[in-house]
Amino acid sequence: MQSPEQLKRQEELNRKLKENLGRIRKKLLVLSNKGGVGKSFVATSLALIAARRGLQTGLLDADIHGPSVAHMLGFAGMPLGVTEDNVIEPIPVRENLVAVSTASLLKSQDDSVIWRGPLKMGLLKQFLAEVRWGELDLLIVDSPPGTGDEPLSIAQLIPEMSGAVVVTSPQDIALLDSRKCISFLNQLKIPTLGILENLSGMLCPYCGKPIDVFKQGGGKQAAADLGVPFLGAIPIDPEIVRASDDGKPYVLEHPDSEAAKVLEAIIEEVGKL
Ligand SMILES: Nc1ncnc2c1ncn2[C@@H]1O[C@H](COP(=O)(O)OP(=O)(O)OP(=O)(O)O)[C@@H](O)[C@H]1O
Ligand SMILES: [Mg+2]
Repeated sequence: MQSPEQLKRQEELNRKLKENLGRIRKKLLVLSNKGGVGKSFVATSLALIAARRGLQTGLLDADIHGPSVAHMLGFAGMPLGVTEDNVIEPIPVRENLVAVSTASLLKSQDDSVIWRGPLKMGLLKQFLAEVRWGELDLLIVDSPPGTGDEPLSIAQLIPEMSGAVVVTSPQDIALLDSRKCISFLNQLKIPTLGILENLSGMLCPYCGKPIDVFKQGGGKQAAADLGVPFLGAIPIDPEIVRASDDGKPYVLEHPDSEAAKVLEAIIEEVGKL
């Protein structure tokens, strides 16, 4: 049972959540079943491209245990601002782009967050309700791997989610992984924008010929089998690892790369939602 004070607090949060979401035109979820397939790279790159196109963009790092957005965008260690009236200010990353991550709440990058479901739901609710996101054209949410507490909380907190991008690897297992994500999205009535295959082959830096490090085509096949759009394939580029480690905007610095082309096309699709 909640005390009257707790109930009042929840009512206040629900009101602020509704107000905040009402000022955000489109909301996009990035998810995958497996870890390390490139969700955070995709989510941050989509946010950078949208902002460069002049869209007011927000990026919420919903990966509470393994936040990597802050590092990739070069704001690791920067604390969130809080105004006198207890409003949380998002981190101004660059023109048209603001972001929020639990990384900003940790004293050290080595600290870990040991929280169970309800607490995580509470934090994500606060991030959505009490952050001054302002008027946004697009809010992108980067999920941790899987279909657990965080994406479920996000789906419940943002019932009007505009769409979701499922990131997968090119192996055969992609079908199994993507099936779980698509089933999750269908159950929560979130429109699936499509499946994106990342880590899809690599061009040999010496001879220029493609090398299928993790095979190729699993994501495309999964999209065909599951009857959802295929959003394209991004090859492995060692420059992406370097840029992510240095907090540099790879897609803006390499506008002719396959990654930039595929991700630009996704932002075009988001525009149609
Ligand atoms: N196409 C690519 N080529 C080379 N490196 C990549 C590519 N995509 C992502 N990476 C790198 O792979 C690593 C893992 O990517 P990322 O953190 O985006 O995965 P993730 O799915 O968010 O992981 P997690 O499940 O842990 O949240 C990062 O160092 C990232 O820079
Ligand atoms: Mg991630």
